[in-house]
Amino acid sequence: MAERQPGDYGYEDTSLKAMGGEPGVRTLVDLFYDEMERLPEARTIREMHPSDLSISRDKLAAFLTGWLGGPKRYRERWGPIRIPPAHAHLKIGASERDAWLLCMQRAVDQMPVADDFRAYFMREIAVPANRAMTRP
Ligand code: HEM
Repeated sequence: MAERQPGDYGYEDTSLKAMGGEPGVRTLVDLFYDEMERLPEARTIREMHPSDLSISRDKLAAFLTGWLGGPKRYRERWGPIRIPPAHAHLKIGASERDAWLLCMQRAVDQMPVADDFRAYFMREIAVPANRAMTRP
C-alpha cells in the first residue's frame, strides 16, 4: 500500500480535523455512550461499565484524540495505555465487540462529517475493537 500523503485520512492529524477536532471527538463519545445507554443490544456492555459514565466518557475521548492523530490526551492524564491489557479483565466476545461497534456506528452517523471519512473511521476503529476481545 502506498504511504499516506498529506491530506489523506491517517496522515498526521487529518483524521482528528475531519472529526471536528477535539470538540468533535467529545460529541462523538457523548453520542456513543448515549447509544450504549439506549440500545437493548448494548445492555451487556453497558453493565460492564461503572454506573456513572463521566470518567468513561473522558477516557474514551482522550484516547480517541490521540488515536486520530492528535495530542496524546489519555497519556497526559492517566499515563500509557494499550487496548488489550486495558480490557483483559472483561468478557468481550464477538457479540460484545459488535454491540460496541453498533454504538459507534450510530454515533458517527449523527456526526456532521464527510461520508468517506465516516466509512474510513468505522473500518479503522474495527481494528482496536478486535484487539479488545478477550474471548474467541
Ligand atoms: C470491543 C468492544 C469493547 C468493549 C465491550 C469495551 C468495554 C470497556 C469497558 C467496560 C471499559 C471500562 C473498564 C472498567 O471501568 O473497568 C473500557 C475502558 C476503556 N476502553 Fe473499551 N471496550 C471496547 C473497545 C474499545 C476500543 C475499540 C477502544 C479504543 C479505540 C476502547 C477504549 C477504552 C479506553 C481508553 C478505556 C479506559 C481504560 C482505563 O483507563 O482503564 N475500548 N472499555
